[in-house]
Amino acid sequence: MALGGMFRNAAAIYLHLVGPFRGKKSGASLARCLHQTLVMTKQLQARRLNGIDHNPWVEFVKLASEADVVNLGQGFPDFAPPDFAVEAFQHAVSGDFMLNQYTKAFGYPPLTKILASFFGKLLGQDMDPLKNVLVTVGAYGALFTAFQALVDEGDEVIIIEPFFDCYEPMTLMAGGRPVFVSLKLSPNQDRELDSSSNWQLDPTELASKFTSRTKALILNTPNNPLGKVFSRAELELVASLCQQHDVVCITDEVYQWLVYDGCQHVSIATLPGMWERTLTIGSAGKTFSATGWKVGWVLGPESLLKHLRTVHQNSIFHCPTQAQAAVAQSFEREQLHFGQPSSYFVQLPQAIQRCRDHMIQSLKSVGLRPVIPQGSYFLITDISEFKSKMPNLPGAADEPYDRRFVKWMIKNKGLMAIPVSIFYSVPHQKLFDHYIRFCFMKDESTLQAMDKKLQKWKDDLRP
Ligand SMILES: Cc1ncc(COP(=O)(O)O)c(C=O)c1O
Repeated sequence: MALGGMFRNAAAIYLHLVGPFRGKKSGASLARCLHQTLVMTKQLQARRLNGIDHNPWVEFVKLASEADVVNLGQGFPDFAPPDFAVEAFQHAVSGDFMLNQYTKAFGYPPLTKILASFFGKLLGQDMDPLKNVLVTVGAYGALFTAFQALVDEGDEVIIIEPFFDCYEPMTLMAGGRPVFVSLKLSPNQDRELDSSSNWQLDPTELASKFTSRTKALILNTPNNPLGKVFSRAELELVASLCQQHDVVCITDEVYQWLVYDGCQHVSIATLPGMWERTLTIGSAGKTFSATGWKVGWVLGPESLLKHLRTVHQNSIFHCPTQAQAAVAQSFEREQLHFGQPSSYFVQLPQAIQRCRDHMIQSLKSVGLRPVIPQGSYFLITDISEFKSKMPNLPGAADEPYDRRFVKWMIKNKGLMAIPVSIFYSVPHQKLFDHYIRFCFMKDESTLQAMDKKLQKWKDDLRP
């Protein structure tokens, strides 16, 4: 009876709202839409999505697609992967037809084998391809799997700011509580430009973030967006706190080959006592300049990886076989050339350092002050001077300055960057809204297009 009444009421509301539109074409689809809204009264969205359903990237990525804008915002190369990798992919597609079929759930065997032998040497571990390696859908997939496998309701996860922005929603989706600690810029008197190495962790502050509820710390070296490469001493500090408080370290090392000025990338898993509590994450997209392949991996001890395999098995189960075969063959090639001038891992950072230096010089010419990155393919620039000279750029009253500046720069200067405040937790965004991020992993033609825009910008500055 009660149910019948509910339906009658729903029908009455439906007629009241939709009646005036009847007979019109657009009215018919609106009617369908309203009808659906009215009959589905349960909350649709799972509670784990609360607070994470707005993504600022959507707005900025859309702006990048507008005509005549040089996109220096998003992090991907706009040039071809190396020939050997492209050929490996072609071979995977046109060779053995069985590569069109499923392979082993935790990774195509030749790939897990070469990852175990290649990284086993780098990490100083005798790695078993079946136990210590999991192949995932990009490093993104690796991160998601790790958070889902290890972080429980109420667990705390320490995140170092500025951070690759998915770490926070991934912690929340797993039921965890993100605990933020910011890198601080130490004053630099003697150099014209700051370096990402001047951004450091305060040891006392970092130590104060560890509690009995801390489950994991997420590290990203070289860091996106800052380009900081954590020194051995900094990693030793993180390692000793993780050990003291029995915490897992998830380390995102997707830019490990992109280090400049002779800087050394150190994997925290190589420090004494760390292998047993570390998950090391990598990406073929970043390694072979092929972000669309979406092949990633997690390396670690069996005691941790067995839980990630449970998530993997019950979510995506399996990654595309042909892309895995191409990555396997590319690593086999790199293993043969390792450390030699012919190695892509040697050649790539040399070429990209030239792109970095080109961009630094160009951005300086209009008063953007780059922070020299030691690694990754990003740099941030200080826009404080613009903030004092043009504080009232259009935008919502509470919108951080860097977001308004980026929109202004896209519209008036035809250049796209990413506001750095989106790499901070909400309470800290206003403190770091005087930086924007550029990607310098770009083809010569893109850098020339940038120079043209900057030349025009410089001309406009002339009195
Ligand atoms: C720090 C960091 N980790 C992970 C990823 C994701 O890598 P993938 O494309 O392999 O999923 C990115 C991509 O931009 C990144 O910058």
